Amino acid sequence: MSQPERIAPGEVWLVGAGPGDPDLLTRKAERLIGAADIIFYDALVGPGIIAMIPAGAERISVGKRSGRHSRPQESINDLLLAAALAGKRVVRLKGGDPSVFGRSTEEIEHLAAAGVVTRICPGVTAASAAAASGQASLTLRGLARKLTFVTAHARAGEALDLDWMALAQPDATLAVYMGRSAAGEISARLIAAGRAAETPVMVAVNVSLPNERLIRGNLKSLAFLVQTISDDDPTLLLIGEAVAGSAVELRDAATAEIASAL
Ligand SMILES: C[S@@+](CC[C@H](N)C(=O)[O-])C[C@H]1O[C@@H](n2cnc3c(N)ncnc32)[C@H](O)[C@@H]1O
Repeated sequence: MSQPERIAPGEVWLVGAGPGDPDLLTRKAERLIGAADIIFYDALVGPGIIAMIPAGAERISVGKRSGRHSRPQESINDLLLAAALAGKRVVRLKGGDPSVFGRSTEEIEHLAAAGVVTRICPGVTAASAAAASGQASLTLRGLARKLTFVTAHARAGEALDLDWMALAQPDATLAVYMGRSAAGEISARLIAAGRAAETPVMVAVNVSLPNERLIRGNLKSLAFLVQTISDDDPTLLLIGEAVAGSAVELRDAATAEIASAL
């Protein structure tokens, strides 16, 4: 049975906003946005989606790009709880899918401890949208049997703590979230763990937005490929044979030229 689209007073919905393009929002998400009294949204929620928030609803931004100056998670938990306990219909709008590196569980547990009901509306995650934009598949019969979503976001001053041997398996596609600043380390560690230096890579920036960029190259050139990307631009790294997309036109001509020369 499908869940109801109306929001009961005092209920919280975690809603996936997708990668940015309002056309990639689900119909359910759109109805929930229209039914909310108050909406808390992340920095990665696209401007076209923010524009859908009804004039009468309160809108509260709770995040900045790259985690800089963002509100601590505990503070977001408290804001959600206070709004729910005040009897508001609450929507927590998250970029992509709430279940992928979205810290949903912390919010759900905090609300549940106070007896507040939380429901989830899924969204299109950045990896799916990036593959679609690049006309690529995340899996490939016979060549890419595994798909791993991994975050390369390390705490300040700490090295990445990942299972590089597992990630280096040749039949895996890696979708690396928050991996731009660690691109050089990812490349070096994967190659050291046995992944071929020529493994195809697609760097997807601002996917689904008007300023989208898709930069293609190979694993050994990964650090170079991300050099022109600013801190503010959400960036996903796709690594593996499945993302080669040889028939796809390169959109970032300048970088593509240099990358293909490497
Ligand atoms: C905190 S994670 C949230 C992921 C989100 N829940 C999802 O399912 O896509 C943020 C990271 O997702 C990726 N991301 C989100 N939206 C993106 C977009 N439009 N283009 C490229 N990468 C994106 C980037 O790696 C960004 O640093």
